[in-house]
Amino acid sequence: MPARLLTGIGELVTFDPAHDGELGLVRDAALLEVDGRVTWTGPAACAPIADADLVDDAAGAAVIPGFVDSHTHLVFGGDRASEFEARMAGRPYAAGGIRSTVAATREATDDQLRSRLARFVDELHAQGTTTFEIKSGYGLTVDDEARILRLAREVTAETTFLGAHVVPTEYAGDPDAYVDLVVGDMLDACAPLARWIDVFCETGAFSVEQARRVLTAGAARGLGLRLHAGQLGPGDGVALAVELGAASVDHGTYLSDADVSRLAASTTVATLLPGVEFSTRQPYPDARRLLDAGVRVALASDCNPGSSFTSSMPFCIAVAVRDMGMTPAEALRASTLGGAEALRRDDVGHLRVGARADYVVLRAPSHVHLAYRPGVPLVARTHVA
Ligand code: NIG
Ligand code: FE
Repeated sequence: MPARLLTGIGELVTFDPAHDGELGLVRDAALLEVDGRVTWTGPAACAPIADADLVDDAAGAAVIPGFVDSHTHLVFGGDRASEFEARMAGRPYAAGGIRSTVAATREATDDQLRSRLARFVDELHAQGTTTFEIKSGYGLTVDDEARILRLAREVTAETTFLGAHVVPTEYAGDPDAYVDLVVGDMLDACAPLARWIDVFCETGAFSVEQARRVLTAGAARGLGLRLHAGQLGPGDGVALAVELGAASVDHGTYLSDADVSRLAASTTVATLLPGVEFSTRQPYPDARRLLDAGVRVALASDCNPGSSFTSSMPFCIAVAVRDMGMTPAEALRASTLGGAEALRRDDVGHLRVGARADYVVLRAPSHVHLAYRPGVPLVARTHVA
């Protein structure tokens, strides 16, 4: 691989403590990539030009680490545009809508799911996302959950088994028998295809006791833990996630003071999903409260056909700054380094020496424009090492 120098960077965000401030900022900067890794960052005037085979000019643009979207559900059939339309006319969001996507996903062929997934991956890339997680959860049979994870693995190493997304219609009379299936044959089939296990722990989905069973069984198979909790109301999901050492607890719209203290004292990341509150007309989570308490915060899209059909991390940043009390710098950190922490990855989400050289050249002089210019396509180029 040729050594590539990107120079003429107006503002480079590295998160390297050797550089300036909370963003590890360098102005009038350059970045050297060798074999897909960052080997040097600093002022362009000092760049090791002799080491470069190729030189690119960013023409004064801002350059940031690629976004790390740590929460998506990108393998599904159909859509739920009419459910969204009804919601905008006043109908509330309920977990049960997931079942209509399950029916459409079971009907779709592998090729239909695969070509749609490819379009989503293009969307992510065009909007600056270079690492992304994908959950199963719209199959809910042994074969369909395994099929979804196989397809997801074609495009990412960050796959999550979410057999416990909702109780499928055929088990409506006996939810615990469905949990038996999830921790039995389904986990046998899916554990080799996944890095993570997740549960939708909420009224209308799974109880804390059921979530504990599923997460504990997943951990015994070597899977890392994640949990959907606190989306529709308060509960004991966050306490469970922290107790079990989950990498991330996601949604966090409804959190008690005790939840916030637990998170602050833990290594569990609170992953906030602004697209959900936007698309369900729910109150936004209070990111300021979490940050002030010292909680690690990530932002993710939760891209799915029900609660949040956006794949745009810049959109999430704009909402987080406008409505969740985050500064532009905090929102940028949460959608890059925060996402990496939520996936327990140290090679992405930053541009320190040794990181994967995944970066985004913005059509803007500063990262602040991501929030300042909402809805404007500011990603000029996404570079994946
Ligand atoms: O993260 N909350 C659970 N799962 C998704 C919603 C899925 C759906 O509505 O289809 C979420 O919001
Ligand atoms: Fe989700």
